[in-house]
Amino acid sequence: MSERKPVTLPRLAGMKEAGEPIVMVTAYDYPSAQIAEEAGVDIVLVGDSAAMVVLGYPGTEAVSMEEMVMLGRAVRRGLRTPLMVGDMPMGSYEASNELAVHSAQRLVKETGCQTVKLEAGGTSVERARAIVRAGIPVMGHVGLTPQSATALGGYRTQGKTVQSAIRLCEDALALQSVGCFSIVFEAVPAAVAEAIVEKLEVPTIGIGAGPATDGQVLVFHDLLGITTGRTAKFVKRYAGVHEAMLDGVTQFAAEVRSRHFPEPDHVYGVEPAELAEFRLYLDQESLASRKAWDWEPLP
Ligand code: KIV
Repeated sequence: MSERKPVTLPRLAGMKEAGEPIVMVTAYDYPSAQIAEEAGVDIVLVGDSAAMVVLGYPGTEAVSMEEMVMLGRAVRRGLRTPLMVGDMPMGSYEASNELAVHSAQRLVKETGCQTVKLEAGGTSVERARAIVRAGIPVMGHVGLTPQSATALGGYRTQGKTVQSAIRLCEDALALQSVGCFSIVFEAVPAAVAEAIVEKLEVPTIGIGAGPATDGQVLVFHDLLGITTGRTAKFVKRYAGVHEAMLDGVTQFAAEVRSRHFPEPDHVYGVEPAELAEFRLYLDQESLASRKAWDWEPLP
């Protein structure tokens, strides 16, 4: 099999041109990055969804830049081919262009991601422009933008009314006009996404936006069934990893308790002569009568 070449921005544009679907997943650590690499995905996003699926916070607002950097560095070690996108956490870009450029540079320098993603239109368009001008490619994100979920009235579909669809379309066009290389559409009615995608030249990636976007993204833990409980309507589970992990740990616990683990295959041996001599040493009278406070550290 021929070596896959690293995915570049021109390659993504070419895929859109050729109608070749773009595959994107999130990853948050070395093993998830290795899986993405081996599965041959095109884009890996170190998403701030890590807040919930990895770090156990109730929402994405809580994750810090330091945490995103730590996760991103681990992902970088497991990736070679896919384009790596670092998600800018809430609070790292909204206040000013200077802050946005500084945070984007920090993600690139400290994690090795090649591009960054930020959420929403409005003032984020100016932040995206500033980051692009500083030489860092930016992926936009419209529709349901979890960092502003409270302001949007909760985790709900966006673009269901004319006004909301128009706003979404204008945000996407504005992000494209300031140089975003791609735009994520999240939780948007399929027909609305399709109509907007037709107006855009940059590759679009959908999550709950129907089949018309140029690519699809799912959260690693959702698609593998590592997350439990209620998931969004757009999540398709391709594996039952939570169940497999629970079965494994439950069996391990049972075998430790019943003394079935470790088995002979899992233990190290020692030469009988070495063991016999060691036992003689332990049986010495002087050793048996020594108290704990008599012990001298070995030289
Ligand atoms: O953080 C994330 O996982 C995301 C994707 C849902 C696009 O932003």
